[in-house]
Amino acid sequence: MPEASLIIVEDDPLQRRLIKEHLEGEGFLVFDVATGAEALSTVRTYPVDVAIVDHKLGEENGLEVIQDMLKQNPLITPIMVTAYGNVENAVAALKNGAYDYIVKPIDFDKFLLVIKRALERQTLRREISVLRDSLEERFSARNFVFTSSRMEEVARLIGKAARSDATVLISGETGTGKDLVAKSIHFSSHRKDGPYMAINIPSLPETLIESELFGAEKGAFTGAHERRIGKFEAAVGGTLFLDEIGDLPPHLQVKLLRFLQEKEFYRLGSSRSIRADVRIVAATNRDLEAMMKAETFRQDLYYRLNVIRIHVPRLGERREDIPPLVDHFIRKYAQRENKSIAGISSEAMSLLLRYPFPGNIRELENIVERAVVFAEGTDIVSSDLPLFLTEPLEEDEQQAGLALNERVRLLESKEIRKALRENGGVKSRAARDLGITERILSYKIRTYGLEKPV
Ligand SMILES: Nc1ncnc2c1ncn2[C@@H]1O[C@H](COP(=O)(O)OP(=O)(O)O)[C@@H](O)[C@H]1O
Ligand SMILES: [Mg+2]
Repeated sequence: MPEASLIIVEDDPLQRRLIKEHLEGEGFLVFDVATGAEALSTVRTYPVDVAIVDHKLGEENGLEVIQDMLKQNPLITPIMVTAYGNVENAVAALKNGAYDYIVKPIDFDKFLLVIKRALERQTLRREISVLRDSLEERFSARNFVFTSSRMEEVARLIGKAARSDATVLISGETGTGKDLVAKSIHFSSHRKDGPYMAINIPSLPETLIESELFGAEKGAFTGAHERRIGKFEAAVGGTLFLDEIGDLPPHLQVKLLRFLQEKEFYRLGSSRSIRADVRIVAATNRDLEAMMKAETFRQDLYYRLNVIRIHVPRLGERREDIPPLVDHFIRKYAQRENKSIAGISSEAMSLLLRYPFPGNIRELENIVERAVVFAEGTDIVSSDLPLFLTEPLEEDEQQAGLALNERVRLLESKEIRKALRENGGVKSRAARDLGITERILSYKIRTYGLEKPV
């Protein structure tokens, strides 16, 4: 079990320190804050287990702070601290969401008992909620993070798509969240209890795409020893997500078109048509309009797919989404790594806000994941970020007076950083741009210390 974490919300600095020291002595991870606002920002970024809240916080009422915290994270177990003899307060606290109360002056033996009981309850509730989470997890609104108006429009279209059965075409660069959009449509539609099937077209060898999609009768081709059910049949009653539809070979474009027109298809090697009630959502990072002009993508198929169009903008076009996404990924990976990371320094955040993110949200997620792994303090700082973010390329290196081989090294490391940056840190692509193998690139990255070892 991860270390239990507590937050103390107490405006009196002496009391606060006393409680903190006591609890830290018991091995708990303790946050201490003086105001409701600070308490809220802590529970927003860190999954706190138990909150110990003073009843009178200067002008603020501890009860309201408890309720606000529960709104942020209903899994917190709150304990109210109230002055001696103030029974009404204690009763009110219990009615309003507090799990227990303790009276001042604090008897620490009793206090610890109350906290341990709260933590036991907490463990139970977490187990239940993890079970529920694993079902809903990736598709719930909680995991779809944005504040930009561009993404509000996307969310509106997701809602519209979810209310109909029309075919959806999602466009956008790699890493912008197309998969997430497709899942959100399915899981907010009336088909949500039906299957969600996905197929990534470029990941399959061309010879297998057809049988993967439509299935095959036994003996339909060499190696077809059994009858195979395709994704279309498996997705009946649900949604089929065709990822990277721009990569669909021409003869299969015809077959997909026929399905969209007739709602019928044939298994490979069979002349009997099968009707299937399947909702199609397709996505592409390619320019289908240009492909249509170049006659590599069928126009009639394009119009059949493009009934509801959802374009997911690049992260660079909606930088407002960076801070909430950073928060979201910090929480996600801090939990996985069992680390208590409260946030990110403003210097590190401004580096992120300046970066172009060619790999979009996937790249941001990778950067934050790596930073969480590297972080040694309670905040992510600039040195936890990859070098291509912290060392601006434009900076002119002091080359004068250096030996030729030093200058060559500098130039080489600069070119490598540039290639990494332009390719969102994806080594295979950077290697291709540089015209070297990925293995050699990895070697050079190590030699030049361009990446800290994990
Ligand atoms: N709005 C978002 N909120 C939270 N996570 C997101 C968001 N958009 C994308 N992601 C995450 O970024 C990664 C890349 O998204 P994905 O949907 O696979 O992109 P695409 O299919 O466009 O390449 C995934 O891990 C996904 O969960
Ligand atoms: Mg994708």
